[in-house]
Amino acid sequence: MSWHMNAVFYELYVRAFADGNADGHGDFIGLRQKLDYLQWLGIDCIWLLPIFPSPLKDDGYDVASYLGIHPDYGLLEDFMMTVDEIHRRDMRILVELIPNHTSDQHPWFVEARRSRQSPMRDFYVWSDSPEKYKDARIIFIDTEQSNWAYDAVSGQYYWHRFFSSQPDLNYDNPAVQRAMQDVMQFWLELGVDGFRVDAVPYLFERDGTNCENLPETHDYLKRLRAFMDEHYPGTIMLSEANQWPKDTLPYFGDGDEVHMNFHFPLMPRLYMALARQDRRDVVDVLAQTPQLPPNCQWATFLRNHDELTLEMVTEDDRQFMWETYAPEPAQRINLGIRRRLAPLMNNDRRKIALMHSMLLTLPGAPVLYYGDEIGMGDDVSLPDRNGVRTPMQWDDGLNAGFSTAPTGKLYAPMIADPVFGYQKVNVAAQQADPNSLLHTVRHLIHSRKQQAALVQGALEWLDDLPPQALCFWRKGDGQHFLALHNLSDTPLTIELPAPSATLTDALNPEAKVTQSLTLPPYGYRWLSQQA
Ligand code: NOJ
Repeated sequence: MSWHMNAVFYELYVRAFADGNADGHGDFIGLRQKLDYLQWLGIDCIWLLPIFPSPLKDDGYDVASYLGIHPDYGLLEDFMMTVDEIHRRDMRILVELIPNHTSDQHPWFVEARRSRQSPMRDFYVWSDSPEKYKDARIIFIDTEQSNWAYDAVSGQYYWHRFFSSQPDLNYDNPAVQRAMQDVMQFWLELGVDGFRVDAVPYLFERDGTNCENLPETHDYLKRLRAFMDEHYPGTIMLSEANQWPKDTLPYFGDGDEVHMNFHFPLMPRLYMALARQDRRDVVDVLAQTPQLPPNCQWATFLRNHDELTLEMVTEDDRQFMWETYAPEPAQRINLGIRRRLAPLMNNDRRKIALMHSMLLTLPGAPVLYYGDEIGMGDDVSLPDRNGVRTPMQWDDGLNAGFSTAPTGKLYAPMIADPVFGYQKVNVAAQQADPNSLLHTVRHLIHSRKQQAALVQGALEWLDDLPPQALCFWRKGDGQHFLALHNLSDTPLTIELPAPSATLTDALNPEAKVTQSLTLPPYGYRWLSQQA
């Protein structure tokens, strides 16, 4: 079985993690100093947000060069040393592949827009009229009015699915297809274990379609996959297709396209289930989730660097989510919520742990977002999604141990409010306290690894229980695992569906397992049974 099937992933923003050269920005020197922490936590694979030269209008998703490192982070040698250090600790690393668009500062675009005769013109998508492809939705609805932007330099419109400063590449041009494969090869040669592939549904455009999930896109991704399999076996693609399960399935092909894709529709339903004290939204979406081809896996998550997206819920559910989890307008952006996990849970330790327990036991390989393991807060006074990208809180000292630069030089302010501020919420304090959230999350991660059924085991719900019981078996690989979750604020008593004598507590082997179990409000239990 390939490593990605049961890896625990950790998404990390280099700028936010640790500053090793005291300039106020995180970098690879800093990251290397924190690798022992990630290993201790039980992380198998680190996913780095964009590390490339960029004007940072979209925090690096606006790439100005695919073949380098942003100077704030260090040199390419720094990156290579970091890869070695990650591998030395038996961890793996994914970097971003951002195939859909570049920055308007990328030399390809600078050259392409110079004139209509430019040899690079065809690297991008141009039109005399902004009416073309009008069935394609606008993704950043808060900031963009159109997917076309007028280029006064060359007198035509160029196509962009995200910010207008991010022109889309033209995948009908074979030279673009080759160039992106070369980018992939460049990073694979440097030893990365794969890519989180950004915004895959939008690579091609066709009139009369919504310009998403087109067959041409799948063909191209399959070619990238074949290239990886042939030359770099064991490396993976984790794609970002924010789509319904049925539209996501084709991205796995017959096991010959991407290895993993995020399960976007599951994520908001975990929050809905908790708020409604009712498992049904989660049960329904997993019932609609198709079986994947062999060696393919869902990547599941609670939060990430973007807004908590509500694209994959109904209008009613979106209103419910906004009213429940983002009552202030400043907490909303586009079709989502720009808050972190702990504030979303009202900083209720029980709920934060319960969400992690669901994440770590439901189907899929879990992806944690840096800082959520200690319950970091957010800052909605910062623009865009920056409020969930603030410096990691290592200790209660100067700049939370993130940087020794003068505080005014930090790339973003520390979270310093009385509830979530670094004086209170930090790694050092939680490492020293065996009852902290950090220790709970770490224990869940390490315990998960003992449970073979959690890798690919079939999901079987305990249907007869009341709605607030989110309880299920995972069965497979010679093992049965029983997860019990109480979504409600009152105790819940459950009669076990198997003789208690056959079950062991997987989180606390000493704990007695009785036939009738009472979960406290927002409580959970993990039980394992030899099959
Ligand atoms: C998806 C990334 O997750 C997001 O942060 C970015 O803004 C868009 N792609 C556009 O690049």
